[in-house]
Amino acid sequence: MSIVERAIKRLQDSAQGGAKGPRAPSPPVGRVVPSVAAPGTPPGEPRSRREIGSTEKSIHIDYDALRQRGLLPPEHQQRQIAHQYRLLKRPLLKAAFDAAAAHDSTAASPRTIMVTSALPGEGKTFTSINLALSLALEKDHRVILIDGDAPKPHVSHTFGVASEAGLFDVLTNPGLPVESVVLPTDIRGLYIVPIGRRSDSATELLSSARMRQVVAELQALDDYGIVLFDSPPILLTSEAQVLASLFGQVVLVVRASGTPQQAVTDALAMIGEGPRVGLLLNQALHDNNVGGYYGYGYGDGFVESQQAGQNES
Ligand SMILES: Nc1ncnc2c1ncn2[C@@H]1O[C@H](COP(=O)(O)OP(=O)(O)OP(=O)(O)O)[C@@H](O)[C@H]1O
Ligand SMILES: [Mg+2]
Repeated sequence: MSIVERAIKRLQDSAQGGAKGPRAPSPPVGRVVPSVAAPGTPPGEPRSRREIGSTEKSIHIDYDALRQRGLLPPEHQQRQIAHQYRLLKRPLLKAAFDAAAAHDSTAASPRTIMVTSALPGEGKTFTSINLALSLALEKDHRVILIDGDAPKPHVSHTFGVASEAGLFDVLTNPGLPVESVVLPTDIRGLYIVPIGRRSDSATELLSSARMRQVVAELQALDDYGIVLFDSPPILLTSEAQVLASLFGQVVLVVRASGTPQQAVTDALAMIGEGPRVGLLLNQALHDNNVGGYYGYGYGDGFVESQQAGQNES
């Protein structure tokens, strides 16, 4: 049975649950603050070469708010959730760096990852943020999380940067350096690109040649960096196919017991054969718990983590 068939079967067999009801608006977990020069950097001097992103602004993150939003697990679940995201990030990192050596420079870099789903509300943003937090824990890698969902810029809202310049500013203004919209955060290794100012042609811009250039430039900021892109639902985005082709890897989030089988099949067809695609079965459990379980698979195997609430062995 292929990975897709197994994933679809899993959907059919999946346990009860799934996201219930609309989400209540939540306060942001971050706010923009002026950047402080790196210690030892004289005022007016450029910061060290190793640093990337805006030199003027950064995002101050409120860890308590992150936890309250369910984006950091409560203490007692921390190990389990961290374990779940380790299972998710390992194959992504492996593909990103194993393949990087042999990477054909005309194709999208495997260090660029689009997180998408067939339909709305399947956990793209939750996955993008948690994956970004998990990747940022890696000593050797930095992660640039791009908010690419113009109709629902939840990454920007979450980090309190919805009114900052961002992706759409660099798309509409080729003179604007991409680095200026990469905001460092006070989580080491985590950088955010806000959605920016959108125009009526926002969706067309996502599939433009300029978008390809922007993704490539962001990826080139750090040879060991990962670029993560939180996207709109693929079946509702007319430019989805082109968009998916800009990334070397795609994580297709599927809400267990929620996403119709046909929608998964259609989404996979839309993504096409360009990027390396992984399916993430995400079961959101909402009893005020951070939870869910994740099954993640590529063609080379199917990895399933434990369900939240069980002990890690
Ligand atoms: N694994 C999970 N555990 C707990 N809550 C989750 C999980 N996955 C998603 N959720 C919650 O489900 C809701 C929908 O998730 P999210 O916003 O990430 O979906 P989305 O695919 O980005 O939606 P949209 O298409 O509207 O942008 C959110 O309230 C989110 O916090
Ligand atoms: Mg979202």
